[in-house]
Amino acid sequence: MLYIKNAAQVVTVSGGSKAPKIGSEMEQLNVIGNGGVVVEGDIIAFAGTDQEAADYVEQHAGGKDVKVILAEGKTVTPGLIDPHTHVVFAGSREHELALRLRGATYMEILQAGGGILNSANKTRAASESQLIGETRKRLDRFLVHGVTTIEAKSGYGLRLADELKQLRAARFLHNDHPVDLVSTFMGAHAVPPEYKSDPDKYVRIVTEEMIPAVAKEGLAEYCDVFCEEGVFTPGQSKTILEAGLKWGLKPKIHADEIVPYRGAELAAEIGAVSAEHLLRASDAGIRAMAEKGVIAVLLPGTAFFLMTKPADARKMIEAGVPVALSTDRNPGSSPTESLPFIMNLACLTMRMTPAEALTACTINAAHAIGRADRIGSIEVGKQADLVIFDAPNVEYMQYHYAVNLTETVIKNGVAVIL
Ligand code: NIG
Ligand code: FE
Repeated sequence: MLYIKNAAQVVTVSGGSKAPKIGSEMEQLNVIGNGGVVVEGDIIAFAGTDQEAADYVEQHAGGKDVKVILAEGKTVTPGLIDPHTHVVFAGSREHELALRLRGATYMEILQAGGGILNSANKTRAASESQLIGETRKRLDRFLVHGVTTIEAKSGYGLRLADELKQLRAARFLHNDHPVDLVSTFMGAHAVPPEYKSDPDKYVRIVTEEMIPAVAKEGLAEYCDVFCEEGVFTPGQSKTILEAGLKWGLKPKIHADEIVPYRGAELAAEIGAVSAEHLLRASDAGIRAMAEKGVIAVLLPGTAFFLMTKPADARKMIEAGVPVALSTDRNPGSSPTESLPFIMNLACLTMRMTPAEALTACTINAAHAIGRADRIGSIEVGKQADLVIFDAPNVEYMQYHYAVNLTETVIKNGVAVIL
């Protein structure tokens, strides 16, 4: 039995397990002052005031060992969830930052064969064990920042064997590392050079060869596509996501990141679980997403790192779109594992409130990866994924910005970082 004792705040984020929180619900964190949490095995057994928690321990401990973690002056939250990463890849691309600082754009670098294609070359050349080794370090960093579950996309193989290699590396790490991984197939991340003159042929390979192979091996739950001018058109994106659906892969979409491209509209039309980026989403697209309950996964770190205007989070929340947040961890547009810093950016660059930011990194993020029945809030019966932050309250986590306040991470009932 594990007893987290006398926290300044236990932030449960409860009440959103059935549907993602929208509008003013995103502000409702259900905070318990002077709280305690009790974990039995890998499950949350009790959360309440510290007095109630102490009583619970007295009544239920029996002869069992009770490990007590003192949390005085600290804030306890659900384990953070990152619902959008490209974490499995080889190498890095720091030279692109230097190019962009001298005026090159992200899309110019991609169109010249760099960007995603640079990482694809390195990832194709890497062995599965090399990929596992590089990715493991990134997962360690996620954990140190309080992140206990992430989504992980493929999309740096861009041919069957290497897409499978990435997804197998993700599966291996899911089983071998404390951080849980939920996999998304994203073979349609870029058109590989071999098909530059015939992108539709590559779309056919994605739909006819890759998706069936990924589904048969049970390597992914979701299918994603980079729907962007110069990458995949809305028509090609629809074809790919519908092929995924036929094979049981639920749709996600990189939408309206660089230019308005009706990606948000397409997400609503096909019933995508989430649309991601949305920097240039139209008002009609936002309304359509709200009507269909499509989750907006916003990535303010990407806007920050690409030095551009972030998505209009306020407009989306006011329209009733459920909002989640993510690092977008990838080697080109957002090389960070710090989801707490992403929350800082959500507040300081998109004017989300501290409460909305935490909802977006917990229960709403859990919905974006189909895990809200098990994780994303501190509720009895849920998986014991918890974080203790060295902060007296939720507002402080956003105020003391850009440093890592994570102090203790509990994953599946085990304190893994102390
Ligand atoms: O979400 N936009 C497309 N994909 C990633 C970037 C990947 C890369 O640059 O390697 C993103 O920003
Ligand atoms: Fe992305």
